[in-house]
Amino acid sequence: MKKIGVLTSGGDSPGMNAAVRAVTRGALTLGYEIYGIYYGYRGLLEKNIEKFDWFSVAGKINIGGTFLKSSRFPEFKKIEVRQEAKKILAEYGITSLIVIGGDGTFSGAAVLSELGVKVICLPGTIDNDLGYTDYTIGFDTCVNTVVEAVDKVRDTSGSHHRCTVVEVMGRSCGEIAVNAAIATGSEYLITPETGFNKNDLVEHLKNQNLGGIKYSIIMITEKMTNVHQLAQEIEEITGIDTRATVLGYVQRGGSPSAFDRVLATKFGKKAIELIDRGVFNRCIGIKNNSVIDLDITEALNIDRKGKLELLETFKITL
Ligand code: F6P
Repeated sequence: MKKIGVLTSGGDSPGMNAAVRAVTRGALTLGYEIYGIYYGYRGLLEKNIEKFDWFSVAGKINIGGTFLKSSRFPEFKKIEVRQEAKKILAEYGITSLIVIGGDGTFSGAAVLSELGVKVICLPGTIDNDLGYTDYTIGFDTCVNTVVEAVDKVRDTSGSHHRCTVVEVMGRSCGEIAVNAAIATGSEYLITPETGFNKNDLVEHLKNQNLGGIKYSIIMITEKMTNVHQLAQEIEEITGIDTRATVLGYVQRGGSPSAFDRVLATKFGKKAIELIDRGVFNRCIGIKNNSVIDLDITEALNIDRKGKLELLETFKITL
């Protein structure tokens, strides 16, 4: 009996549970045994492993977060730690491993595969920062959460004729920001891809004010600048009452959207199909509405330039 292990790792994202469900039921349908590994790579090292059955994943598709739990585990960079992980998988008779996470998780999988472990990667991150796939599991839910929050912020900004700087997640990628900026009709956008030019921002706000728009939303990706300080500076330079709102971890939670649930299920199905065909060390993604798979290292080396087109779309609304 062939055995498959599944784990979620790194920042959790809505839809990870749907992916684990699909992988579990897909594996059982094809006659495999399936093992849930709790707390990502750390849980593997700690042998936090449970044999799953059909009902282990019942009632999970609509739940946010990851019921398999997650962790960040920098120790996995050490060769001796990975060798131990390989030993533990062998001890359990687990012949292939499905990991769900972002680029850090994938890098871990790539080095594990160099030791001969058979791995399949599913993209699960709100950031949508992987160049090889159009979408990652959790991104759609996250953008919808941001849009809902910003619509509310706009109500109060409008009531007080205020400018609000809204900081969203994304690490070094502006995908959340640009999608949310378009969907909320934000008045200005700052992402790692656009860069940050304070003079341009101030000019833009002044012109808007002249044009009669007395409130605005500035959408900004985290880590670009200190948004509280920026709000203060905008107020001092322009005289416009300005506030900052950091949306934070609310963006990672919540029941996954239908899009994310379906995407996760498609990816889970593909993962099991690949394993059944004896194809390993691949990342699964979606490109032009087709589910694809790529070598892990190749996938990690594809940059995100293709995703920048949306910045041009945003510009026409400015
Ligand atoms: O990668 C997902 C993400 O939420 C990023 O947007 C954010 O920068 C980071 O994780 C936060 O990481 P942590 O959960 O370790 O604070």
